[in-house]
Amino acid sequence: MSGYPTRRMRRLRRTPAIRALRRETRLTADDFIYPLFIVERDDQAGPVSSMPGVSRLRIDDLDREVESILSAGLRSVLLFGLPSSKDATGSTGCGDDNIVSQAALRIKKLTDRLVVMTDVCLCEYTDHGHCGIVRDGAIDNDETLSALCQMAVAHARAGADFVAPSGMMDGMVGAIRRGLDEAGLSDVGILSYAVKYASSFYGPFREAADSKPAFGDRRSYQMDPSNVREALAEAKLDIDEGADIIMVKPALPYLDVVRRVREAFPEMPLAAYQVSGEYSMIKAAARNGWLNERDVVLEALTSIKRAGADLIITYFAKEAAGYLRG
Ligand code: PBG
Repeated sequence: MSGYPTRRMRRLRRTPAIRALRRETRLTADDFIYPLFIVERDDQAGPVSSMPGVSRLRIDDLDREVESILSAGLRSVLLFGLPSSKDATGSTGCGDDNIVSQAALRIKKLTDRLVVMTDVCLCEYTDHGHCGIVRDGAIDNDETLSALCQMAVAHARAGADFVAPSGMMDGMVGAIRRGLDEAGLSDVGILSYAVKYASSFYGPFREAADSKPAFGDRRSYQMDPSNVREALAEAKLDIDEGADIIMVKPALPYLDVVRRVREAFPEMPLAAYQVSGEYSMIKAAARNGWLNERDVVLEALTSIKRAGADLIITYFAKEAAGYLRG
C-alpha cells in the first residue's frame, strides 16, 4: 500500500513549481549577518588577499558600503576592528573612541535600518594576538572579563544593538550582561559565540583582522574539535548567563553540533558562523573553475539552515542575497 508503485517520490520533484511546494528549508536575506572589517589607519585598508571579495574598510568608506548593504536587502552587520596600535592588554579596543565604536556611530548616523552587532574580543587589539590578558604565559580568565566588559559597554554606548563576545572566556556573558545593565544599557542584546572551536578554518580571518597569536595557539580557551557534549554545556552556561542569541562556529564542518544545540535548546535563536576558511575554500575552487560558486554557496547556506541555524554569519551575505533575488 505505502510503497512503490503506489508511492512515487519523484512526483514531488517533477517541475520547479512542485519542488518549491515540497521545499522544507527556505533561505532569505533576513537570515544573513554580514561581517565588516574596519581599520583606523588608511594604510590598513584594502583587499584581503586570502579572502577574495573582502576588503578592510576605513570609516569614510562606510557611507558607500552601508548604501550597498541596504540595497542588497541585508539587515545586519557584525563589526571587527583593526586599531592603529596594539598593546599587551588590548586597551585601544576598550576606550570610548575605539575603532568599532566609531564605526557603529557612523552607521547609526547613516541609517536606522541596520542591526549593528560588534565582535567583543581582545585578539585584534593585543600585541600578542591572544583573546585575553596574558599572565605568566597563560590567559588570565577573570582579568580579561573586566576588559571585555569595558569594550562591550563602549560599543553599546556608540549604538551597537548586540555585542558578540567571541573570546571563549568563562563567565564572559554574565559579566557583560551585568556591565551593560549597570551602565543603563539593558536593551542591548548579547549574541554569544557560545560554541567556538579551536579551528584551523579561521586562518584567512587572522590575515583580515591581523590577529594571529604571536605564541602558542587558542586551545586553552577555544573548544576541542572532537567534542559535542561539551558544546551543550557551553551553550547552557551562556543561556543561563543571559545570552539572547547563541552561536556555533565554524558552520559547515560542525553541522552535527548545530543540530545538537538546536535540539537541546529549541527556544533559543541560534546562529552559525560560516567562517573565513569556509569562504576562501569556495572562492578558491570557483576561481579554478572546479565548482560553480553560486550553486555551492546556496547549497552550503541552505545546509547550515537545514541543520537548525536561524541566522548565518557569512562573508557571502551580499552575493547570496543577490542570488536569492534571482
Ligand atoms: C576573534 C574572532 C575570530 C573569528 C571571529 N572572531 C578569530 C579567532 O578566534 O581566531 C574567526 C572568524 C572567521 O574565521 O571568519 N576572536
